[in-house]
This record gives sequence, structure tokens and C-alpha cells, in this order.
Amino acid sequence: MRGKIQEKSHCYKVFIKTYGCQMNVYDSQRIVDSLLEEGYSPVQRIGEADLVLLNTCHIREKASEKFYSDLGRLRILRESKNSFILGVTGCTAQAEGEEILHRAPVVDFVIGPQTYHRLPRILKELKKGGKVVDIDYAIENKFDYLPLPNKERVNSRGVSAFLTVQEGCDKFCTFCVVPYTRGTEVSRSVEEIIREAEKLISFGVREITLLGQNVNAWHGKGANGCDWSLGKLLFRLAELRGLKRLRYTTSHPCNMDDLLIAAHRDLPMLMPYLHLPIQAGSDRILKLMNRRHSVRDYLLLIERIRRARSDLAFSGDFIVGFPGETDLDFKETLKLVEDVFYASAYSFKYSSRVGTPGSSMIDQVDEDKKDERLQCLQMRLNEQKRQFLESKRGLLTDVLIEKVGRHKGQMIGRSPWLAPVVVETEAAIGTVINVLIQKASTNSFFGAEEIL
Ligand code: 5AD
Ligand code: SF4
Repeated sequence: MRGKIQEKSHCYKVFIKTYGCQMNVYDSQRIVDSLLEEGYSPVQRIGEADLVLLNTCHIREKASEKFYSDLGRLRILRESKNSFILGVTGCTAQAEGEEILHRAPVVDFVIGPQTYHRLPRILKELKKGGKVVDIDYAIENKFDYLPLPNKERVNSRGVSAFLTVQEGCDKFCTFCVVPYTRGTEVSRSVEEIIREAEKLISFGVREITLLGQNVNAWHGKGANGCDWSLGKLLFRLAELRGLKRLRYTTSHPCNMDDLLIAAHRDLPMLMPYLHLPIQAGSDRILKLMNRRHSVRDYLLLIERIRRARSDLAFSGDFIVGFPGETDLDFKETLKLVEDVFYASAYSFKYSSRVGTPGSSMIDQVDEDKKDERLQCLQMRLNEQKRQFLESKRGLLTDVLIEKVGRHKGQMIGRSPWLAPVVVETEAAIGTVINVLIQKASTNSFFGAEEIL
């Protein structure tokens, strides 16, 4: 039975499940915020919801499969439970549109990442019956129509916040669906970004992570109409009173310009941790992937950035088993990993995605081979991560206190390199304290506060 949206006086409940990347996490927050004015409040349990939203990811087949299997479970839930409206948003929505309704008639509406500001209107349309699919690349800027976050919601998310400054991609790596799901690159204006950052800070946010699929390709309009680069934006954001830390992700090696590197040199509040994916360590594969740079370019870039800030740690992304990848190519990836030394990295088996050039390339690699390579690479990356965390033992570092720990007197904070730090302190959430790192575990540190 299809859910009915009742009269406005009723307080509706919305449940949203987010798949995929941080950009989707940010979108989910904006979606929920946009529904507050419509009388919805967010709930953590699906069983309580009048409106269920699945904010999907399309990057690899596994992510889409997970979504479809969740839809199967939701169909059963809706049959047993009275009713709720079910909507699909995000990247799979964009890529598959109408097809989702055919595969899963339980779905009431499908909206893409560029049109979710229309959700309140779509919910009203649904009252008349029928289904809605809206996956336009909207001409209007969705951010002009979305309410800024309110204090209560921002506080519920903690002192670290995401802020999307750029969406989409013009690079067209041959494995990637992003240019098709998120469209071409669009940058938000300086004014819009500063306004949102100021709002977040006024509500207690102390760390902002700027987000974009190609964040360092961001080039927004400044007040006098001229184009700003990400480096310039970071210098400007660093002037905002109350803000203590800045980060940005995800970057493409071709867009690391001099000013951005200077920002790492000159801004202590820009955290010394950079996600800079290369994907593979063989020039031949990089070319087939259309990455637009060589291994040597990447290594020289890393050297330049390290010269600007010697304690900067790198993280990356890797794909194993891209079509045509030989054992020799893979060995070159392992060699690159040794040359760079990553603090942390994500690695994936190549997943063929419909509509991307990679999917029609010959020489697709066997699954067994991909498994073998992934295991080998991950072993090496895990070992580097362990060594990296271990190398911080005995170091005095700044930690942003984020939440209360499990035991009495314990707080959990964030190190400059993202890994959490467990520390006994009376410091309040949102303050930055000095901590002596005493121990490293698989993913986090234990430390003691140093009162100078
Ligand atoms: N198969 C496997 N991994 C992929 N990624 C993007 N597209 C694919 C694909 N088709 C990985 C890349 C990217 C990260 C977000 O996901 O490593 O940097
Ligand atoms: Fe997944 Fe990419 Fe969409 Fe993020 S932008 S949700 S990684 S497909």
C-alpha cells in the first residue's frame, strides 16, 4: 500500500539512508534540512518513518546491488507495516531514473543529485497520486533554494562539518560514472561558501571539510566577478573567526596549483593530510584510464607538497584489475606505494560500469586475478598505515575534541591526520588541546593531555 502524506499539522518523520561518499552524506543533511520546514523531523529508525529516502551511490556495482537488495527488504516492510512514502535520490537515481520504478514498483519517486531542492514540491505532487521521476540537470542552482542549516541540526552533527563547494567532473576517467551521474563541473560562488561557513561556525562548528568530486578544480566567482582558485578560498576561510581547522577532499593531481601548495605551507589550520588519488602506478594504465598525468608527475608533485609542509601525510585511492592491467603493471603500483608511503588508502577491484569507456575495453581482468591483487595491495597499505600511526608515538600534537568517550573522563578527538584520539581530559567539545600520543591501535591513537 502506498503511503499517504497527511495534513500539514501532523509532524512527519523522515528516515534517510546514505550510501557512498561524503558528498552524499552532505546531500543527505541538506535534504533533511529542507524537509524541516515542511513539518518533518528526522528519525534513526526506519519503522517510525512516514518518508523513507535512499540516497544512493553508483560508483561500483556492489554499491548499486546493495541498494537493490535494500529495496527488496523495504518492499516486505511496506507490505507488513502500514505505509510510508519511498523515494530514491542520489547517483543511482540519476543513472537509472525510470528504470528503478520498473525494477522496483515499491518506489514512489526518483530524484537526482541536482534536483533534490524540489523535494518539498514533489511530495505535494505525490498527494495527487502517481509517481515522479525528476533527474534533470536543473538550470537553477539548487543551493539558492535550500534553507541554510539550523543550529539544532548542526549541533546534532558535531563540531566538524562538510561543506560542498564543487560538484561534478570534467575529467572523464575511463572507469568512472561521476561525469554522468553528477554532470559537468559546477563551482559554488565565494559568497555562498563564506555565508554557509559563517553560519556553521556561528553554531559551533570548528572544523570544515570542503567537498567536491574534484575539489581542487573549484574556481568560484569572487565579489568583483573574478575567478578564485581553491588556494585563495582557503586563505579567505582561514580568516574566519572561530574556525580552527580546514580540510578539503577529493583532489585530482592535475589541479594542485602553486597557491594551493602555498596554502599548505602558510596556513597551520589547513590540516597536514591530503587525499590525492593516483589509481594505478603504471603509466600505461594511467593512460588507458585517461588520468592525464604520469607516475613521475605524481611523484614530483608529492615532493613539492612535502617541501611546502614536511609533516603532510597522504592518502589515496587505487583500482586493481583495470582492463589490460598485467602482473607487471600491478608490480608498478606496488612500487609506487613504496615510493609514496601512504598514511591510509582505499583500494578497490575495478568494477565495469555501463556507459563508461572502460566497460567496452577488451582484456577485462579475471575476478580471481583482481582478488589476488587487491589482497596483496591491501596487505601492503595496511602495513603502511600501521607504520604511519606507530610513527606518531611520542609526538605532541593538537587534537580537536569531538565527543564523549566510552569510559568516564574520556573524550574522543581528532588528530590532524584524521585518525581519532582517545584522551582523558576535561576539555569541552570543540576545543583544541595538546596531546602526547602514547599508543597507536589499528585505526586510532591513545594519548595524554599536556597542559602547557
Ligand atoms: N571501479 C572501481 N573503483 C572505482 N572508483 C571509481 N570508479 C570505479 C570503478 N568503476 C574508485 C576510484 C575513485 C573512488 C571514489 O572510487 O578509486 O577515486
Ligand atoms: Fe558514489 Fe560518486 Fe555518487 Fe559519491 S558521487 S555517491 S562516490 S557515485
